[in-house]
Amino acid sequence: MPGRVRIGTVAEFSDGELHTVEVDGTSIVVGASGDAVCAALNRCPHLGLSLTKGPGGTRFSDGEVVCPWHNSRFDLASGENLDWTPGVAGRQMPRWSRRMIALGKQPAPLTTYEVVVDGNDVFVVL
Ligand code: FES
Repeated sequence: MPGRVRIGTVAEFSDGELHTVEVDGTSIVVGASGDAVCAALNRCPHLGLSLTKGPGGTRFSDGEVVCPWHNSRFDLASGENLDWTPGVAGRQMPRWSRRMIALGKQPAPLTTYEVVVDGNDVFVVL
């Protein structure tokens, strides 16, 4: 059922790191992008793998998330795909290999969630 779910305070998400929260059994990544707190499903649209657990480690800076599996890069605020399968486990691969790494999957955005800040509290809207 859709609704607002409190996930923490503004201070918890303003440190420039990517956080993982569980909401009703769903893993969500949360981080600051500019002045806004943003959230997305913790599942890469390439193969559905975690954005925070993988061989490349968690990578998040300037509001951009890099998938730890095949290095696809996303804007956390909009979910937009900025780069699709350029490597493996944090290592950049030759440009010609991207299609093989993509395994036939076309670029796709993250599933994002609306975030509401009410005073010091942060909510995601499911
Ligand atoms: S699973 Fe994320 S880029 Fe492949």
